[in-house]
Amino acid sequence: MNKLYGLLGHPVGHSMSPLMHNDAFKQLGINGYYHAFDVPEDKLKEAVDALRLFNISGLNVTIPHKVTIMEFLDEIDEEALMIGAVNTVVNIEGRLIGYNTDGRGYLTSLLTKLNKPLKDSNVLVIGAGGAARGIVTALANDGVALLTIANRTIEKADEIKNHYLKYREANINVLPLKKAQLNLARYDIVINTTSIGMSPRVDEVPISIDHIKQTAVLSDLIYNPIETKLLQLGNKKGIITHNGVGMFVEQGALAFLKWTGKQPDTEKMTKIVMQQLGGSTC
Ligand code: ATR
Repeated sequence: MNKLYGLLGHPVGHSMSPLMHNDAFKQLGINGYYHAFDVPEDKLKEAVDALRLFNISGLNVTIPHKVTIMEFLDEIDEEALMIGAVNTVVNIEGRLIGYNTDGRGYLTSLLTKLNKPLKDSNVLVIGAGGAARGIVTALANDGVALLTIANRTIEKADEIKNHYLKYREANINVLPLKKAQLNLARYDIVINTTSIGMSPRVDEVPISIDHIKQTAVLSDLIYNPIETKLLQLGNKKGIITHNGVGMFVEQGALAFLKWTGKQPDTEKMTKIVMQQLGGSTC
């Protein structure tokens, strides 16, 4: 019998996860089927109860359920607790365990672009929303030389810093966006976690990169468009850029590994995602 997997989100119509995971099941000869479940915000508990009844094997969780789902699970892994959100659920003998593969997935992808060790890097994270939490937690857990969070609303950056420090010591700085922009030459890695530049507002940038250093890596979590205005400007300067496709693929691949114990082919996954996004991997 096919094992059932799925995505809980709202809306889920444009999700690339079903194609990506169903292809990986086929490639690896696993009898699995992945379905995108469109679950309105106030129906999450009913959805989780129903999926338990149907013995769901694993789930991805996306907006708007990443925080609320935590109430309905039996156990939550330490890094997901630190992030304060769950994007992956594994059914282990009837117990639903929550994980968060966003930050780790992001790091796996970022590491392929780095020209010096992460632990020696001075990192700037732009934004202090849900996406920033995952990235900050993964970076701080792995260890960087200095981690700075810059946000328009400084209190939200402080919140992330203080939340993280409840769990572990870390060297985390907080700055207003304008100050970070002026200090940009200090950073080895600059990461945009905000939605600024996402379709349809493709002409916007979260920060001016006039002062970025030539050896910096400029990263944007956005994958729609594949190359944001921010990354276009970085490419024009000739610096290394990194888009959000890798994070999407790697967070999915890590979830797949947790569900099945098998490593999917991330190159094939990337091809599928790029085709969906209208880009090319060639
Ligand atoms: P997500 O969960 O995807 O991270 P979010 O929680 O809504 O989304 O967070 C959005 C982030 O983008 C926030 O850091 C937000 O800044 P504020 O905390 O000041 O709201 C940032 N952001 C969104 N639009 C922005 C804009 N026009 N200028 C500056 N920052 C913006």
